[in-house]
Amino acid sequence: MTETPYTFDLNDPDCIPSRYDNHIRRTLTSMRGQYQDTAAYDAMLAKEDTLLYEVYELQRPHVAGEVLHGISIVHPGKVGDEYFMTKGHFHTVLETAEVYHCLKGEGCMVMETPEGEWAVAELRPGVVLYVLPRWAHRSVNTGAGDLVTLFAYPGHAGHDYGTIEQKGFRKLVVERGGGAVVVDNPRWSGGQ
Ligand code: PA5
Ligand code: NI
Repeated sequence: MTETPYTFDLNDPDCIPSRYDNHIRRTLTSMRGQYQDTAAYDAMLAKEDTLLYEVYELQRPHVAGEVLHGISIVHPGKVGDEYFMTKGHFHTVLETAEVYHCLKGEGCMVMETPEGEWAVAELRPGVVLYVLPRWAHRSVNTGAGDLVTLFAYPGHAGHDYGTIEQKGFRKLVVERGGGAVVVDNPRWSGGQ
């Protein structure tokens, strides 16, 4: 890890940063149980463990004074009528925020709090999104090409994936009649 200030650029046509320490590739198997249409999920997985998204991280210590940053690339596609998306998470330290800057593509960020508030923010090139502390977040690619974002969050935030893995987000983003719409997640309806 370097101990002098550094730069990197995003001039690569696919927005792969000119410098990174860690490259995460998430495929269908890492999203088991997250897509509504389990038959479509199983059929897709039977053919190939499709690559859904990638994250390029710059390595910094996981301490409060640092800002962890990198590039997230969600590829285009759907499982059934549900668009490719990230796992999504709360931060382990709930009172930590995150900034996203959309560099390329079309999509949205689905967000919610533990108390049940929810929000969906459109992402397109040039948009900057501030995810407040306490809000879980998931990027969804509703476009035909890659959805690319630059993210930055406090070094001590951590990722809590378990809460979302149980029931998913309260809202899903699906294709209806050729367009993206936000619908209730049936796993949350009734009793909530
Ligand atoms: O910290 C973030 O919110 C991002 O860096 C995400 O980790 C990235 O977009 C991948 O999503 P997830 O961590 O939910 O798999
Ligand atoms: Ni985050």
